[in-house]
Amino acid sequence: MAEFKHRNIIALRDLTKGDIELLLATAENLREINSRDIKKVPTLRGKTIINLFYEASTRTRTSFEIAAKRLSADTVNISPSTSSATKGETLADTALNLLAMKPDIIVMRHAVSGSHYHLAKKVTCSVINAGDGAHEHPSQGLLDLLTMKDKFGRLDGLKVAIVGDITHSRVARSDIQGLTKMGSHVYLAGPPTMMPPAAERLGSVTVCATMKEAIQDADVVMMLRIQQERQGKTLMPNAREYSRYFGLNPENLKLAKPGAMVMHPGPINRGVEMSSYVVDGSQSHILKQVENGVAVRMAMLYHVCGGELE
Ligand code: NCD
Repeated sequence: MAEFKHRNIIALRDLTKGDIELLLATAENLREINSRDIKKVPTLRGKTIINLFYEASTRTRTSFEIAAKRLSADTVNISPSTSSATKGETLADTALNLLAMKPDIIVMRHAVSGSHYHLAKKVTCSVINAGDGAHEHPSQGLLDLLTMKDKFGRLDGLKVAIVGDITHSRVARSDIQGLTKMGSHVYLAGPPTMMPPAAERLGSVTVCATMKEAIQDADVVMMLRIQQERQGKTLMPNAREYSRYFGLNPENLKLAKPGAMVMHPGPINRGVEMSSYVVDGSQSHILKQVENGVAVRMAMLYHVCGGELE
């Protein structure tokens, strides 16, 4: 099997198709552990992982922690309210102090795009990006790919519509990188106020004028949350107006292929980007995404540690 040569995983942009295939294959192998009675293997015993989360997180942080524990690594969680960032310490100083305690991996979420490249220059341990500003969210991208691959058995040739706040979405950027490397066709739609000026430059994507155009005959419809915390000022007249033009409901979902997958990275604003009928409906794979997140993160931790086996 191919070898994973990266010490860090900061962006899917930095990985090759082969790297992505390897991470997905490892996740497929490891996920069986998650349904055992005793959900633990000694693979990363003796490794120390610091989860450094400067931004809110429910799924990603819990998932990284569970992934580490299932592989027997020791984990430490640091959150903004309890870290010295509140006392004015720079990221570089925090990094050097944490490094002095000899962790093997720092998993970080940070509001500043690109902050992980800065961190990686300061430390000798591995760095994994759990989301940086509006830049990338590689573990989410990988779990999205795995969830699509589970349903279709392939990623090549799929039509994937990504709808919503593209400008502020790191999930969209990682999905675009991962999907286009794997041969999927990505269609983007969102209000003009939430579409970056040169959206075509995000990758080999088709930018659509309407949501209808994006979801027509799609195999997958990926809805995004409106990132109000990054917008500064609100970019939509009101939630009702938004959901009328860019919300997914049972009616417009019929435009996609029969049985098309519905996905969302969470957290969901029910009734805004998606109606509850769709969130809880038979085409929704949202909780499957969360389930796959643990396996994908196990694979990421495993490979940045050099794929060493106990
Ligand atoms: C996403 C994030 O934080 O980027 N959530 C997640 O990690 N599952 C998407 C979002 O916040 O909208």
